[in-house]
Amino acid sequence: MPGAKKVLVKTFGCQMNVYDSERMTEALEAEGYRETDVLEEADLVVLNTCHIREKAADKVYSELGRIRQVKEERLALGRETQVAVAGCVAQAEGSEIVSRAPVVDLVIGPQSYHRMPDLLRQAASDRRSVVETQFPEEEKFERLPARGKARTATAFLTVQEGCDKFCTFCVVPYTRGMEYSRSVAAIVAEAEALVARGVSEVTLLGQNVNAYHGASEGGGTASLAGLIDRLARIDGLERLRYTTSHPRDMTDDLIAAHAHEPKLMPFLHLPVQSGSDRMLAAMNRKHTAADYLALVARIRKARPDIALSTDFIVGFPGETDADFEATLKIVDTVGFAQAYTFKYSARPGTPAAKMDDQVPESVKTERLFRLQQRLDGQQKRFNAACVGRTVPVLFERAGRHDGQLIGRSPYLQAVHAFADEALLGRIVPVEILGSGPNSLSGVIAASATHDKFPGHRGIAAE
Ligand code: 5AD
Ligand code: SF4
Repeated sequence: MPGAKKVLVKTFGCQMNVYDSERMTEALEAEGYRETDVLEEADLVVLNTCHIREKAADKVYSELGRIRQVKEERLALGRETQVAVAGCVAQAEGSEIVSRAPVVDLVIGPQSYHRMPDLLRQAASDRRSVVETQFPEEEKFERLPARGKARTATAFLTVQEGCDKFCTFCVVPYTRGMEYSRSVAAIVAEAEALVARGVSEVTLLGQNVNAYHGASEGGGTASLAGLIDRLARIDGLERLRYTTSHPRDMTDDLIAAHAHEPKLMPFLHLPVQSGSDRMLAAMNRKHTAADYLALVARIRKARPDIALSTDFIVGFPGETDADFEATLKIVDTVGFAQAYTFKYSARPGTPAAKMDDQVPESVKTERLFRLQQRLDGQQKRFNAACVGRTVPVLFERAGRHDGQLIGRSPYLQAVHAFADEALLGRIVPVEILGSGPNSLSGVIAASATHDKFPGHRGIAAE
């Protein structure tokens, strides 16, 4: 289609936004758009935004400034450009966005993506900005077109949205609304469609994914463990992951799934946020440091080799040196394979933003640095411990060097190896020879047999 309109979708924030962007792009492709990554060529620019921290939200406005210039340049050449702001900033700020940045033609909240093509037409014909940020109770995913061609062997699949936990720092309950779970049947259908298109690893997404409770196929509701059990029966679906989980929702059946379901990968992202009980209470996390440690012990009993990942916030209002020391202590006690660390960022409308004792920026910066150093050391040691082992790697894409492929280990580490391109999309045993802070490197283990990797039977190593 040489004359087809082009769309550029730029994604900020979490994996749920990555998933939403893919579904939006597919919906727009069904309307005749072609994807581009060149701003100057785009007839439609969609920013899929994140509101979780102030910096993330600020990026949207600096990006819109750049887009305004390009829109004017294109107009001088007689070419129209439509600009849409989607995602969590759209949901949180609504029409404020249009007031601050009149370049925007459409503001669209996450529950309305299936209406995007219609709303864009409406904005164009009415020659005015359209703002659509309601929270209608409908299955938007089922109203979007069926999944398109898979881009890689791995895919995200959103199974749950929203959160009812109300941590005092977090905007999610306000931007994504209350918890909502998709039905097992809808998820199974989407997973089957992905597998038919060459996907063999699916990561189930939700803001609070382990609180999943969707309608099951036989009536009643299914837990996340029940959903995983059902998805594991899909032939050709070789690996399952899920993120993000709340410690309070790590139920016995889900922990047991890590023991008995070989397709469920031994990696778990389980945010703890702080090691101080005083801070955890102020954050309304509903767990103590001891609760978290006891939970980790149960999970490790079920799956001894599980790699644990987490999130920390430093400089939450009222955090003292002693509170921060407690955070360093929990890092040492657990031993994380990887982690994300954030400086506390006051979000308008959340309870913590109004708390006394906001921590000075310089203190936050210093604590973040110390915490990161400790976590970096753990990640490096975790990676180094893999050297000499042979691990099954799902190759996802070509590497930077000629003949190099990049894939993921069961523990979600990036693995580089020189290998035949025909192995893209396949799970192959790789002998790990080297490790760095963020990745492993190795060679295809020619002599390895598949029996070493239960759950990956029938995947040829060649
Ligand atoms: N400030 C800093 N970090 C935050 N997070 C969520 N809200 C805030 C905030 N206001 C972090 C938490 C969460 C991750 C997704 O982002 O650690 O787990
Ligand atoms: Fe950011 Fe949260 Fe929205 Fe994801 S759900 S994009 S983390 S605000």
